[in-house]
This record gives sequence, C-alpha cells and structure tokens, in this order.
Amino acid sequence: MVEAKSKALTMEDIISKVKEIPPFPQTVMRIIELTNDPRSGAKDLEAEIMKDQGLTTQILKLANSAFYRGRRKIDTVADASILLGFSAIQSMVLATVVGSVMNKELPGYALEKEALWKQSQISAIMTRTIAKKVKYSKPDQAYTAGLLRDIGKVILDTYVENGYDEINAIVENEGRSFIVAEEIVLGYHHGQIGAKIAEKWNLPEELVEVIACHHNPAVAFVNPELVAITHISDSLVMMMGIHIGIDGLAYEFFSDSVKLLGLDDIMLSEIMSEVADVIQTDDILLEI
Ligand SMILES: [Fe+2]
Repeated sequence: MVEAKSKALTMEDIISKVKEIPPFPQTVMRIIELTNDPRSGAKDLEAEIMKDQGLTTQILKLANSAFYRGRRKIDTVADASILLGFSAIQSMVLATVVGSVMNKELPGYALEKEALWKQSQISAIMTRTIAKKVKYSKPDQAYTAGLLRDIGKVILDTYVENGYDEINAIVENEGRSFIVAEEIVLGYHHGQIGAKIAEKWNLPEELVEVIACHHNPAVAFVNPELVAITHISDSLVMMMGIHIGIDGLAYEFFSDSVKLLGLDDIMLSEIMSEVADVIQTDDILLEI
C-alpha cells in the first residue's frame, strides 16, 4: 500500500463527492433491469425506451452507424433489440446516460469539455473490437467497460488540479506511473473512485472491478479477461495518439494481459486499423 501525503482525501471526502454524481434516471434503471431479464421481450424493451424521445433517437442513430450496422436499415427500437441483442441495447443506453456525467471540462487532467467523453467512446469501440477479435463471449459488456473505465476522473479532477505539480514530479523524477502518483499525493487513484461511482449506480461486480483495476489487471479475480481487454484497450488508444490528457503514456503496461487473451502483434495492428476505420468513416461519437 502506498503511503499518502498531506493532501490525502478521506473516505468521507470521497463519499460526499460521489453523492453529487446524479443517479441513473428511473427509465434507465428499468431498461437495465429489462435487458438483464431473460423473460422480457423486444416489445417490453421498446415500450420502456420510447418513453424517452432522446434515448430512442440516440439508439436508432447508433444502431444504424457503421459500428453496428448489418445489411438492412433499422427503423424501430424493437428491430434494434432483435438484430443487435439486448446487451447491445443496454450498452447504448448506458452510453447515452453516462455521457452527461462525463461531458465536462477536467482541468486537472488537462482535458477540455467533451474530451473525456470522446476518449471514452473511442475506448468503448476499442474494447468491443478487441473482445470480438479474441472471441470474448460478451463484446457489448466490454463496450460498457471501455466507456466507464475512467469515470473516477470526474471526481478526482479538482484534487488532481491542486496536486498536479506534485503528481507530475513523482511521475518525472521517480519514474512512477500516474496512478501510483495519484495515490501518493491524493490517497486514492481514479480507478478506486470510479468503482465507488459504479457501486452507487448498482452496476454489476464485473464492471466495478474493471473500473477499479484497469491500470493493474494482475489483481483482477472476478473477470480477469474483461479487465485485460480494457487494460490493453487503454494502451492501444494511447498508441493511436488519441489520449491527450496530462497522464498520457505514464501508465504501466502489463504484457501478461496480451498473453492471457492470446493476442499477437498482427492481431493488435488489425484491431487498431479496424478502430481507426470506424472512427474515421462514421459519425459514431454521440453528441450529448
Ligand atoms: Fe484510467
């Protein structure tokens, strides 16, 4: 355990900040329940989603994007849920809701308004692409993991801003990773705080773990495969030059994750070029 310095936050500080994060709207909670319930059908799901006009529009837009599109155009939410599956709908719904929390300026991480949200969407595309490449059974769950992994930055940002010089000095002079420096200066890193938000939103244990451990996949035990996918995704996004915050490349890369998933160099470059194509050819990023 790393010893925290004087500016360290207490658990009470964190809990009061997590309280400021809005809960999921009732409709969204209901949609998540329905998509998890094997007894519910496409029509039940459609009825619930159509209560929210914005959500309906976003889902149809995503369902018809190059990222998801099949051979034919999808005109209704019921069609989308039959053709793409309930778990794809769940990840789309989460994407539209989480965006409103992430879509703010994060000066501590040197991220302009929308930057965290855009990076998170690209990371979600990356995790889903990796998941498909390694034949992971739930690619849409991987999408959600990629989308949410850095949610803790939303809360830690103000503290990072105050402790930035100290964090930076530890990264530069002591060769520590950004996450360890966050922990030394603030007492917590963005993964631990993000996991608290995920618990507040009642997200499944696998997603809480992935948020907590995405920079340290070696400690994962609930779903190490999902954590490995998200960990590699982060590195590939950075290699593609998409990650532009102050933490940049200052993270440790665990090559065991590559081994665990059976990836090789050719597969990794195929994944990056597939993601580059999706990002370039399509209006995939959701405007919130
Ligand atoms: Fe992160």
